[in-house]
Amino acid sequence: MKEKSLIMLFAIAFIALSCKDNSKSDVVNKKEKYRPNFHFTPKANWMNDPNGMVYYNDTYHLFYQYYPDSTVWGPMHWGHAKSKDLLHWEHRPIALYPDSLGDIFSGSAVIDKTNTSGFGKDAMVAMFTYHDMDGEKEGKINFQTQGIAYSLDEGETWTKYKGNPVIGNPGIKDFRDPKVFWNEEKENWQMALVAKDKVIFYGSDDLKSWNKLSEFKFNDDPPLGVWECPDLFKLPVQGTDEEKWVLIISHGGNSSPNGGSGTRYFVGEYDGVTFTTNQQESQWIDYGTDNYAGVTYNNEPNNERIFIGWMSNWDYAITTPTKTWRSAMTLPRKLSLERINDKYILKSTIIDGFDSLLSNMDIENSDKYPFEFESEKLQHSVISFEVKINDKLEIELSNELGDTYLISYDPVDGIFFTDRTNSGIVDFNKKFLMTPQQKILIGKKEKLKIELVLDASSIEIFLNEGEFVMTNQIFPKKDYHRFVIKKTDGLVIDNFKIQSVKSTL
Ligand code: FRU
Repeated sequence: MKEKSLIMLFAIAFIALSCKDNSKSDVVNKKEKYRPNFHFTPKANWMNDPNGMVYYNDTYHLFYQYYPDSTVWGPMHWGHAKSKDLLHWEHRPIALYPDSLGDIFSGSAVIDKTNTSGFGKDAMVAMFTYHDMDGEKEGKINFQTQGIAYSLDEGETWTKYKGNPVIGNPGIKDFRDPKVFWNEEKENWQMALVAKDKVIFYGSDDLKSWNKLSEFKFNDDPPLGVWECPDLFKLPVQGTDEEKWVLIISHGGNSSPNGGSGTRYFVGEYDGVTFTTNQQESQWIDYGTDNYAGVTYNNEPNNERIFIGWMSNWDYAITTPTKTWRSAMTLPRKLSLERINDKYILKSTIIDGFDSLLSNMDIENSDKYPFEFESEKLQHSVISFEVKINDKLEIELSNELGDTYLISYDPVDGIFFTDRTNSGIVDFNKKFLMTPQQKILIGKKEKLKIELVLDASSIEIFLNEGEFVMTNQIFPKKDYHRFVIKKTDGLVIDNFKIQSVKSTL
């Protein structure tokens, strides 16, 4: 009898434990090929832009463009996840569903601390674009309008505002992606919205009625692809007491320096009404092909500018070789501004907390270390070092199947270069194959600080503490495990470190 009840007890405990496991429906399948270990991915199906990035009550919220019925883009919803550290994410139910006004395109979220909207104190208010698919099909041009919704339970459930849309369409086909923020100086809500090939700024006292403040356009010759996903914020210039405003814009079409869609920035002044810049040429937040539609957190508690981008490119995003889910976000990056050679440069570095996932690795299998070594953990690691360069630098990451990703820098022409021609699966899309070699003109440097962050299907490269960034998707047929610095003549390597990254799945 005693034995039976013991077995019963064990059985109940076992069932309770398994139920607990099952209830963790946010757990994703770790073994799935190309599923990153420490980058955000949707549990299943299609994801694009990060949306509604806002911090509230010790929690970072990440909403995102989501199509729950397929692994390719479709009628857009806002997916939702939350995190205490921007690294470990908990998947939450879908936040916003399409309604009679349209699908839910990109946008932002704020915390209405003083209840300006009347939705409730501390309401989380999202502003997004309604995309009326029928209107688009009928050939209309006014099918994008702006709507709002609010949540009184930290983003779990949402109510759409009855007075939607809060901004109608003025006869502009591409009219979308509102980024709302609280302007401390003006003490009102402000918003940047893209309209074809310009940004329109708006102001509001209650998040419901908006008035146009100004427009910003840049003389691009030739014009870049459609303007998308703007962001506007102020940053101190490091080492000075100067402050500048930064305007971020993503561009579709074949706009970015290495092909396909990409994100650039302008540094200038904003007086609460008008944005101006002296910048003469485009500057890019990332020179790789796989960082798009990125924006920054509202209400960040440490007053930092934390940026997350969609780690893909419209050129080939819907065909990447993953099965049950598609697309990942970049690692969260801290933005800072520095004046270098008379230019304001927006630097991106990985958030400090990322260090908590890292552990130093001892490599014992090579007497040529750090110039040559192998490690089974290479595909989920961070490699960092400083290098003094007299001659060309060439680095190869590879596996036993011969898949190879190349990185090089030639001080003669000042070009930093990556090549994913033979990096693994590359033939899933012609356009992926069309941009195998990616370049950044970084100029002649005698010394370079390099940081490589590798996850299952990506490599993020940070040069000189984020002065230049290159983000690439890669699909090696097997994990890379071999690291080689090919030419060693004239190279001095300092502070070489390889660290493995703990999985956050
Ligand atoms: C950018 C974008 C946005 C739009 C959304 C639709 O990637 O095209 O302009 O709101 O994606 O999913």
